[in-house]
Amino acid sequence: MQRVFSGIQPSGVPTLGNYLGAIRNWVPMQDDHDCIFCVVDLHAITVWQDPKQLTQQTREMAAALLACGLDPRKCILFVQSHVRAHAQLAWIFNCVARLGWLNRMTQFKDKAGKDRENASAGLYVYPNLMAADILAYHATRVPVGEDQKQHLELANDIAQKFNHDYGVTFFPAIEPLIRGVAARVMSLRDGTKKMSKSDPSDQSRINLTDDPDTIALKIRRAKTDPLPLPEHVSGLEGRPEARNLVGILAAITDTLPENVLREHGGKGFAQFKEVLAEALVAHLSPIAAEIRRLLADPHAIDAALHAGAERARAIADPIVARTQEIVGFLPER
Ligand code: TYM
Repeated sequence: MQRVFSGIQPSGVPTLGNYLGAIRNWVPMQDDHDCIFCVVDLHAITVWQDPKQLTQQTREMAAALLACGLDPRKCILFVQSHVRAHAQLAWIFNCVARLGWLNRMTQFKDKAGKDRENASAGLYVYPNLMAADILAYHATRVPVGEDQKQHLELANDIAQKFNHDYGVTFFPAIEPLIRGVAARVMSLRDGTKKMSKSDPSDQSRINLTDDPDTIALKIRRAKTDPLPLPEHVSGLEGRPEARNLVGILAAITDTLPENVLREHGGKGFAQFKEVLAEALVAHLSPIAAEIRRLLADPHAIDAALHAGAERARAIADPIVARTQEIVGFLPER
């Protein structure tokens, strides 16, 4: 069985983008892959996180993943900081990756913004930690949204350079799995920006915990253009907001944008938005209810995460020990 790894930051409630671009694709993989999923708190602190909120959001993220269908009997689910192997391997990768490679990372440029001198060093080496997350398990398949593609290419460069420099065939090649019409869900306020947990406007995203009225209101207020929906996908060209809403309905109802347009082409947005809001509420309400139910017992969530960390360590520790040996570190014992 191929090994799968993916991660998600506990930097807020998961959005519809996280759900459609990543989490929903993780669920069926549990049946035919050896799956490892991680709440990446080490990544989250590359930008400031309030400590109390980080603790709470880490639990909420775990609850959300469980509510979406991750099953600890079928996959390993844990918190990144509980498994030291991630930080250990990341340090070695900091010494393999080249500054020139990191300088090309568009997400660093976006997140650091204009005040780059003031960005954390952690934010700069963020992709090296991602490479460590995956390679500490010799995972070969990584299901993510479109925005992570460049980071995974860098992870492959790191694996190759490590193997080359030390004359080994130790780290495998990684295959990014970027799937479906919703690999890039856009903001509801601006069809050229991705939907994000960190957008200052809550109106720009659907959160998995939003109640039905909030979902309906956000969809009703979503930016659109004045034209009716086109009859064919080619008519979405140059209409990013229309493309986004059609893509969301297609993804949530498990169909293709052409089928959505076959049914709704020619309608105005007011009518289409009613259909979309209804589909979203039907799909997301049971998930929100399950998140609330799970959060009523935080100890059970923590226990599941601790058990997951133990299983993760059993895989990652020997791989990191072997990496240290290849590098030439004196054996610990
Ligand atoms: P994060 O927490 O930003 O997002 C988690 C997953 O959700 C996807 N995603 C989206 N997909 C479609 N449309 C969107 N608007 C959208 N927003 C987010 C992301 O692509 C991601 O798959 N660096 C990663 C976490 C990470 C990781 C890893 C992933 C850490 N280590 C190792 C894979 C392998 C991140 O910040 O994801």
